[in-house]
Amino acid sequence: MTGATGNVGRHVVGGLLAAGAPVRALTRRPEAARLPAAAEVVGGDLTRPETVEPALKDVSALFLFPSPGTAGPVLRAAREHGVRRVVLLSSSAVEYGAEHADNEIVAFHREVEREVEASGLDWTFVRPGAFAVNTLQWAPQISAGDVVRGPFAGAEMALVHERDIADVAARALLTDGHVGAKYVLTGPESLTQAEQARRIGLALGRPVRYEESTPEAAREEMIRNHVPAAFVDMLLTFQAGLVGVPAEVTRTVEEVTGSPARTFDQWAAEHAADFR
Ligand SMILES: NC(=O)c1ccc[n+]([C@@H]2O[C@H](COP(=O)([O-])OP(=O)(O)OC[C@H]3O[C@@H](n4cnc5c(N)ncnc54)[C@H](OP(=O)(O)O)[C@@H]3O)[C@@H](O)[C@H]2O)c1
Repeated sequence: MTGATGNVGRHVVGGLLAAGAPVRALTRRPEAARLPAAAEVVGGDLTRPETVEPALKDVSALFLFPSPGTAGPVLRAAREHGVRRVVLLSSSAVEYGAEHADNEIVAFHREVEREVEASGLDWTFVRPGAFAVNTLQWAPQISAGDVVRGPFAGAEMALVHERDIADVAARALLTDGHVGAKYVLTGPESLTQAEQARRIGLALGRPVRYEESTPEAAREEMIRNHVPAAFVDMLLTFQAGLVGVPAEVTRTVEEVTGSPARTFDQWAAEHAADFR
C-alpha cells in the first residue's frame, strides 16, 4: 500500500485487513502514520524509488498512489520483486477533452497511467471524480458561522465517498476479473456547491448557505491562503465549466462492490463533527 495514510488509502488498508489480507503500508513518516496495528508500516518516499524497493519484497499486489516522474522506476522495481498486480489511484480527469490538455492534473494522471500500462503488470485504474472530503475545505467557515463563501454556487459535482473508492480498489487488489479495467467512480447524485453546503447544514441540524463570491474575489482569497496561482486559475476555469451542467453519475461502485454508492448525506453525517 502506498498512499496508505491518505483519504482513500486509510480505507483501503481497513478493507484489506478486514478481508484477512496482510498489508504493508509505505509512508514518508512511519511515526505519524496512525494505521491499524495489524498493518506493517515501513518508511519510504515515492519520489526516491530506491527507498521504496525494500518494501516490495514478497508483495503480490500493489496499490499505487500517483507520483509523477517516478512511477516508472517504482513499477520496474515492483516487477523485479515479483509483484503481479497493480491498482492505480488515478482520476476521472484523464477522460477530459482537448480543452483541458494543458491542465496539470490531467497531464500528471495521464503520465502515471501510461507508466502503469507499460509496466508489464496486471493493472486496474481507479478513476474517481471529485471526493466528498474536498468539502472539508469549508469546515473553518461552517464552524465559525452559517455561510460558505465561494465561487460558482451552481457548479455541479457527483461527489464520491472515499470509502467507495477504497472498496473498489480493495476488490481489484484481492479478486480476479479487474485486469485492464478503468473504473470511473462517482457518487450517486449530481449536487451544486450550494446544495452541498445545505446538505452539510442538514447533517449539523442548522441552516448553512452558500454565498457566491466573484471568481476574482475567490482567486485573491486562495492566493492569500498560499494556494499556488497556477492551481487557482486551473480550478476556477474548471469549476466555471461545471455551472449548470449535471455531473456524470456512474454505477461502477455498485457494479464492482455489489453495494450502491454512498450518498453525500451519508458522508456529511459521518463527518458532522469535523464541521462543528
Ligand atoms: N480530491 C479529489 O477530488 C480527487 C479526485 C480525483 C483524483 N484525486 C487524486 O487522488 C490523489 C489524492 O488521494 P488522497 O486524497 O487519498 O491522498 P491524500 O489524503 O492527499 O494523502 C496523500 C497520500 O499519499 C502519500 N504520499 C504522497 N506523496 C508521497 C511520497 N512522495 N512518497 C510516499 N507517499 C506519498 C501520503 O503518505 P505519507 O504522507 O504518509 O507519506 C498520503 O498517504 C491525488 O493524486 C489526486 O489527484 C483526487
